[in-house]
Amino acid sequence: MVIAERILERIVVTRDAAGTRALAGALAAAARPGDLISLVGDLGAGKTQFAKGFGAALGITDTIVSPSFVLMAEYRGRLPLFHVDLYRLADAADALAGGLIDDRQTEGVTLVEWAERLADALPAERLDVLIDGAGDDPRRITLRPGHHDYVRYLELVPETAETAAAAETAEADR
Ligand SMILES: Nc1ncnc2c1ncn2[C@@H]1O[C@H](COP(=O)(O)OP(=O)(O)OP(=O)(O)O)[C@@H](O)[C@H]1O
Ligand SMILES: [Mg+2]
Repeated sequence: MVIAERILERIVVTRDAAGTRALAGALAAAARPGDLISLVGDLGAGKTQFAKGFGAALGITDTIVSPSFVLMAEYRGRLPLFHVDLYRLADAADALAGGLIDDRQTEGVTLVEWAERLADALPAERLDVLIDGAGDDPRRITLRPGHHDYVRYLELVPETAETAAAAETAEADR
């Protein structure tokens, strides 16, 4: 017997930082306590812009800045937002020791910049936001649920969003 799991991903193109913030803001309506969103992209790709838009839509009025010199910043909104930046992380063990996995995160949404630095320590139950592009170029943003539970985010991509050809990923367990 073959159990095939097909999870759709969506690709959205944003033309400027406001477009990336607006996309994130629309997605934030799907946020539930305990959610994990990994933000992956080069320096200046727009990970922090995404976090700003997401946070604003959660009702956070404090200014969300890159938490580069602390591992995790916490903001109060409709749900608490935990904003993690692993750019300066030496290794994954440091993140875990530094409190990345914190009980309070079950009550809020965690956004992790440079999440790929955690490698296998990153839980599979998450939404990946892969941002491709730099400078003034448009960003190609791939939204990829790592688990069925995160497909709800894809349903909130605005109708008006410029989407690139939707790709399907298929994983088969035998
Ligand atoms: N479509 C776009 N989406 C997001 N940012 C854009 C876009 N177009 C231009 N920008 C600009 O790119 C920069 C993105 O910066 P941001 O701090 O969000 O990147 P980052 O991925 O968090 O980088 P770092 O790895 O240094 O934390 C901003 O200056 C923003 O104005
Ligand atoms: Mg950043």
